Amino acid sequence: MANRKIILDCDPGHDDAIAILLAGKNPTLDLLGLTIESGNQTLDKTGRNALNICQFLEIDVPVCLGVEKPIIKEVEICDAIHGETGLDGFDFPRLKKQFDQRHAVNFIIESILSSKEKITVITTGPMTNLALAIKLEPKIIENIEEVVLMGGSYQNGNVSPAAEFNILCDPEAAYIVFNSNLKITMIGLDVTRQVLVYPNIIDRMDKINNKASLLFTKLMTVFNENQKRVFGFLGSPLHDPVTIAYLIDPSVIETKLVNCTIDISHGPSYGRTNCDIFDYLKKPKNAYIAMNIDVEKFWNIIEKGISRYK
Ligand code: RIB
Ligand code: CA
Repeated sequence: MANRKIILDCDPGHDDAIAILLAGKNPTLDLLGLTIESGNQTLDKTGRNALNICQFLEIDVPVCLGVEKPIIKEVEICDAIHGETGLDGFDFPRLKKQFDQRHAVNFIIESILSSKEKITVITTGPMTNLALAIKLEPKIIENIEEVVLMGGSYQNGNVSPAAEFNILCDPEAAYIVFNSNLKITMIGLDVTRQVLVYPNIIDRMDKINNKASLLFTKLMTVFNENQKRVFGFLGSPLHDPVTIAYLIDPSVIETKLVNCTIDISHGPSYGRTNCDIFDYLKKPKNAYIAMNIDVEKFWNIIEKGISRYK
């Protein structure tokens, strides 16, 4: 299969780190760069984490810092789950890799406008960078293959009864993207809460015994400790890598094309992804929503992705 050109916009973050790991060495994906924003932690920390992950795993791609704050809201970080550094649990070697000097929004615009092939944009954090790129240069829309996001849910939220963290961090950004006539695949909590990093999964990946398995094991151990303390989970939902697993093997999830609107009404459902699964409203269908996931196939993709490293 020809390489699919991708940009990964993220807020590393323990699960973002595994998404980067999975994308970094996959032969069917051409990772053009990482664009970073605040979310799990402040931008200075998520940016440093991205550099550390790329340097440790020898993923030689540009890392571009993006917008520091959401379009309307104040920054809301998720340090209870991801810790003070945003990536607690791993002692990286001295950091030498430096940021690319281009702003993330400009990197997204320049990469897409200059590409002969269409580019797939994956977001695993708030959607601020992509939303502003679309607003700044709407021409990029015609050269985007699709947007694959980890975010939202057609059921309940995880930071309010209604909303999932990535969307609630910047609902207005999500609103812009979901109303941009792009092909959108939304991988929400409905499926990511089915891929749980139980201790047996950590043991399975630890046996691979390379630097990627070391990173996975150390990060997931702390991720589990924090998720247990906050949510009582015995295994953390490994949200973000499902986006990359879908690109590697689309059959890992089942999707349904529905109308999905983002609630920006500033009420109790602010930031909710209202997915009209049963087409009650007969409105135009604008998003493919992940409905089911093949859990075994997902962990096989993760295991194979880790095994690609030295
Ligand atoms: O709600 C889960 C999402 O929020 C994931 O992307 C996780 O990294 C956090 O950013
Ligand atoms: Ca994330």
